[in-house]
Amino acid sequence: MVAHQDMPYRAMGKSGLKLSALSLGGWTTFGGSVTDVAAVRTILHAAFERGVNFFDIADVYARGEAERVMGQALGELPRHELVISSKVFWPMSDDVNDRGLSRKHILESVDRTLQRIGTDYLDLYFCHRFDPETPVEETVRAMDDLVRQGKVLYWGTSEWTAAQLAEAHEVATRRNADKPRVEQPQYSLLVRDKVERFVAPAARELGMGLVVWSPLASGLLTGKYDDGLPDGSRLQAQSWLKDMLYSDDNRARVRAMAPLAEALGASRAQLALAWALSHPDVSSVITGATSLAQLNDNLGAATLRLDDDVRAQLDEIFAVA
Ligand SMILES: NC(=O)c1ccc[n+]([C@@H]2O[C@H](COP(=O)([O-])OP(=O)(O)OC[C@H]3O[C@@H](n4cnc5c(N)ncnc54)[C@H](OP(=O)(O)O)[C@@H]3O)[C@@H](O)[C@H]2O)c1
Repeated sequence: MVAHQDMPYRAMGKSGLKLSALSLGGWTTFGGSVTDVAAVRTILHAAFERGVNFFDIADVYARGEAERVMGQALGELPRHELVISSKVFWPMSDDVNDRGLSRKHILESVDRTLQRIGTDYLDLYFCHRFDPETPVEETVRAMDDLVRQGKVLYWGTSEWTAAQLAEAHEVATRRNADKPRVEQPQYSLLVRDKVERFVAPAARELGMGLVVWSPLASGLLTGKYDDGLPDGSRLQAQSWLKDMLYSDDNRARVRAMAPLAEALGASRAQLALAWALSHPDVSSVITGATSLAQLNDNLGAATLRLDDDVRAQLDEIFAVA
């Protein structure tokens, strides 16, 4: 029996699809830093039992391995209760056509993705970035074909600008094609400006949902990096992420939020996730976890409500420069 009482569900923009407010993705983790299939199964099944229905994957995560191991674990759950996504854009080999948003790459990629996951259809299929080398019309028509074929239920974008989203909607309207229904941008206390100023207003106007990634800034917002780089942590393993995030300024801000979390009886992870969830245009906050303990901590954010005073204090700590 699945207990869902602690998990709110939100509409994905103006579509009829409902997503769990907190969802779970596989970037760098499943098939990457977590290769044990039993551990992947334990985390995914626990998430499902606590009401997570949306699982976010991409072809490029661990070069197809995330689709394989997550697909294996998700295959043991009732398919109709799951919202499974994948993405296309980043190179999957050195081949000149095995990348981007051309009709050829999209139509060939989706079949490989479906096979790796072990499902007949994707609920969501994202264009993982904008492709300046392919006309938007070609991409829109390829996605529309996948929707008409039933291989994809809704398609979306990731890290597209407001102008690119508007162009896709204009082309789809003119062509009577299915429109992108969801955008996937990065959004956290540390990376917020672009979403708040440009992407969220555009998505609202176009009726698109927002499902946001790296809400904990790869774990930095949990406070786990207060005293250095813990063994086995993501920033220790991925030096490019460390170079981007592990600054004295960021760590000082994260330390400054500790008393706020404490006063709420919450962890900093929960506070950061609840803050992202409190944006009115966000349909789902996609979390990442490498252990059951992290997942349990993070899912505690689903019922945490932040009042205006707490939000104002967070705004002050994480003011956009
Ligand atoms: N569309 C895109 O371009 C894009 C890009 C990136 C991500 N995404 C999606 O968004 C999902 C989430 O992104 P993300 O993984 O970067 O999210 P995140 O929540 O910012 O970071 C997750 C990582 O932080 C650490 N962590 C999480 N909870 C913790 C806790 N309670 N205590 C201590 N450490 C904790 C874990 O790393 P360690 O244990 O390894 O330290 C975990 O893997 C991805 O899986 C993917 O589906 C999409």
